[in-house]
Amino acid sequence: MPVEIKTPEQIEKMRIAGALAAEQLEMIEQYVRPGVTTAELDRICHDYTVNVQDAIPAPLNYKGFPKSICTSVNHVVCHGIPSDSKKLKSGDIVNIDVTVIKDGFHGDTSKTFVVGKGSVMANRLVSICQECLYLGIEAARPGNTLGDIGHAIQVHAERNRYSIVREYCGHGIGEIFHDEPQVVHYGEPGRGLQLKEGMTFTIEPMLNAGKAGVRLLPDGWTVVTKDHKLTAQWEHTILVTADGVEVLTHRSDDTIARRIGTEAEAVAS
Ligand code: MF3
Ligand code: CO
Ligand code: CO
Repeated sequence: MPVEIKTPEQIEKMRIAGALAAEQLEMIEQYVRPGVTTAELDRICHDYTVNVQDAIPAPLNYKGFPKSICTSVNHVVCHGIPSDSKKLKSGDIVNIDVTVIKDGFHGDTSKTFVVGKGSVMANRLVSICQECLYLGIEAARPGNTLGDIGHAIQVHAERNRYSIVREYCGHGIGEIFHDEPQVVHYGEPGRGLQLKEGMTFTIEPMLNAGKAGVRLLPDGWTVVTKDHKLTAQWEHTILVTADGVEVLTHRSDDTIARRIGTEAEAVAS
């Protein structure tokens, strides 16, 4: 199956879904404090999605996932299940991954929060991981390839002595949550699928402080680092435009522009 090229009508719906997902992460920030449980964060996001945004939390019941967001703490790589028994403490890092469905279209984004006062080590991992996401986004434009995105991420991660999780990747997104193509976070320049205007997909690098190996817990969802060292993740949903890229899940705390491209630059200067 070829990768879907979105129509202008579909893109408008992706913008709306993306904006709602981004707004969730902005909304939840004030609650990410020592003492809160990940189940409380889940309940707040669930209620906000359903009651305020009139949208659907995509993770809930997705392939049997029991909650509305994923909360992945410290050595949990991704797909952590919110729990009443998981209380956050100062120094923890927690990735909150939200996906909303609005008018049939998905917006998928995540951010790693540092709870209270984080160690220098934790802050460094979290920042470098966000920089990897940004470098991946900056490599996305028509004519470039998925390999260019993966390579940009891999070079920055490895230069900083972090390892990249290989088992999970970004994905095409639209009316389908996890669509083609697979967007891996490593690669060779010029290899893989060539990007075209109208493609929408996520980039969501997971960086480990230790080795790359991961393990799936018996709950069937929680992915942890084999060596139990710290891991971080950041995710955006993006659109390939005529001359660059648009970050559909852009937040006010992002330090990358919402639109990147020759035209956007021309307007800015
Ligand atoms: N939001 C995750 C992603 O980035 C997927 C979560 S699926 C769930 O692709 F079932 F674990 F919620
Ligand atoms: Co995703
Ligand atoms: Co996600």
